[in-house]
Amino acid sequence: MTKGRIFSGVQPTGNLHLGNYLGAIRNWVALQADFETIYCVVDLHAITVPQDPARLQQATREVAACLIASGIAPQKSILFNQSRVPQHAELAWVFNCVARLGWLNRMTQFKEKAGKNRENATVGLYAYPTLMAADILVYLATHVPVGEDQKQHLELTRDIALAFNSMFGVDFFPTPEPLIYKTAARVMNLRDGSSKMSKSDDSDFTRINLTDSSEMIAQKIKKAKTDPEPLPAEMAGLAERPEARNLIGIYAGLSGREEAAVLADFAGQGFGKFKPALADLAIEVIAPIGARMTELLEDRAELDRLLDHGAEQAAAIAAPVLDEVKQIVGFVR
Ligand code: TRP
Repeated sequence: MTKGRIFSGVQPTGNLHLGNYLGAIRNWVALQADFETIYCVVDLHAITVPQDPARLQQATREVAACLIASGIAPQKSILFNQSRVPQHAELAWVFNCVARLGWLNRMTQFKEKAGKNRENATVGLYAYPTLMAADILVYLATHVPVGEDQKQHLELTRDIALAFNSMFGVDFFPTPEPLIYKTAARVMNLRDGSSKMSKSDDSDFTRINLTDSSEMIAQKIKKAKTDPEPLPAEMAGLAERPEARNLIGIYAGLSGREEAAVLADFAGQGFGKFKPALADLAIEVIAPIGARMTELLEDRAELDRLLDHGAEQAAAIAAPVLDEVKQIVGFVR
């Protein structure tokens, strides 16, 4: 018996790093044990802002390869890219005719992404959340693992499900529950503990890329910013030491242990001791993922075959759901 059906999506962005792994990917892998899992690389969402076509293709394959290399097993999960399953876009149109302008106007992510020049944002960027609702509801998913920043979109998804049901007098769509990633897993910049680890930072030494070699991982950790104090015994002692706290958080994430437990192990030691231990652990976890990812990307035919298969499995669930929607709405089929 599974606990329900999970759907989640990830944008096809290049340069995946440790923050992506500890924030989302690792959770997705773990959820496979208890849920039916459907994971999607959201290329339709990607084009809500301008994309270079060749780059988009490459990034879509990279993210898919990264997920597989991290342990999203094609035998356990459905993995595909969004544009391969047309039911997402079809249901999104229906939801565009359910959701209200007033609801979308409240979306903070649109305001942030559109910036000052809102008139110039694409209609797609504005309608981004109705497509996201369609992603989830076209599978009648019950749970959606997302970061804190996507919580509002998930609330909107629930509102759309309820509004559809009441508009048509049916009890058709479920109201999916968010599974919010633990904020403790927030991975910060290795050179500045007050900003997030990011793929777009100019300096490569601020992040650990999932494709970094073992030597590179070791070097980046060696050069990570710290302070001269030894590690304290309690978490409270890290309150004013963001860089130290970040490294402890990374160690905890990579080892699957609580931060407090990690700290207890290293209490009283300096970074001269802690950093080599962290480097060993990071190499042990990350290097095999990078290696497998590179292998998958070199065998493009095999990777594309896996995505093909995923799209077929996804469509097998989505098509009958969309068929029922069409009947409910009153389309001649
Ligand atoms: N908007 C999500 C993000 O940027 C990606 C996404 C698209 C998604 N569709 C989804 C996440 C459906 C969960 C469920 O992170």
